[in-house]
Amino acid sequence: RPPIVLDSDPGIDDALALQYLLGTGRWDLKAYTSVGGNLPAEQTYLNARALTRAFGIDTDVPVHRGAGRPLTRLPYTAASAFHGPAGLGNETNETLPDSTAAHLPESSARALLRLSREYEGELTVCATGPLTNVAIALLEDPGFAHRVRKFVFMGGAAQVPGNITPVAEFNIWADPDAAEVVLSSGIPFTMVDLDASHHWLLGPADLATLDAAGPGTALATRLLRAYMDAYRRHGGGDACPLHDPLAVGACADESFLTVAEGAVIVESASELTRGKTVFVPTAAQRGYYTDSPALTARMILTGRVALGPGTRDFTK
Ligand code: BDR
Ligand code: CA
Repeated sequence: RPPIVLDSDPGIDDALALQYLLGTGRWDLKAYTSVGGNLPAEQTYLNARALTRAFGIDTDVPVHRGAGRPLTRLPYTAASAFHGPAGLGNETNETLPDSTAAHLPESSARALLRLSREYEGELTVCATGPLTNVAIALLEDPGFAHRVRKFVFMGGAAQVPGNITPVAEFNIWADPDAAEVVLSSGIPFTMVDLDASHHWLLGPADLATLDAAGPGTALATRLLRAYMDAYRRHGGGDACPLHDPLAVGACADESFLTVAEGAVIVESASELTRGKTVFVPTAAQRGYYTDSPALTARMILTGRVALGPGTRDFTK
């Protein structure tokens, strides 16, 4: 099974992404690296530990503590309105006890770097939170970009509106400087953005099916019920998107996405449009001409960007 690292800010859909990754049985999860995002870094680290125990992998999969704050900015208001006071719906230390594993001194960024050397050319990295850890790894050693086989992240909005501001998606908005470091590094990326994730909604009927599936889905059902309630309170109707599991899905199968090649540039100067992801298609597909040196330089650092749902149904 190919080696993978999941870098997350759990988070309800992050938790589901982890369970989905384990459930596919197709990956060898080398580490679960936490990062601040939905909740401050200390809480997402504790949540990551608790989840490894809940899924019975706490003695096998190491959990690392992520960056305590964005690369250059002050910590932001976290997303507890969607993910619950501690980030995992209504779960508490009683329902989700801490991992039995010892706390590790190695940070998330250091673990990413080490694993990229141990599994050079083989390692897939999937990020479902702000890109702070990945940016720190790249700043410490730009070679990281060329050692990973594939880097898939949930974040951004290439064409559709944002979900934290009118133009920005949460993970990129949370640390736009980190996102810009990553997307300008030459890493072979696939961006799983709101253009795709807003098409894969889970509704009450899916929840009922999951609920009836047996004890293995009890936690996921509780988490999803809380997530759906939050979307309902925020005007999202009777359904919630499966952002982070979709990124895990795309690590193995990009037919869940309609993908275009191009560069992504992150707006970090303006407060108004902070974290907006500007998609610049490859020359062949562009309908405009520019010889701006800044833009031309980025043209060689292209990746794969989801512009919509793919041909294969992710919810099946
Ligand atoms: C992203 O923001 C977070 O709240 C979710 O976990 C997901 O990673 C969606 O914009
Ligand atoms: Ca997330």
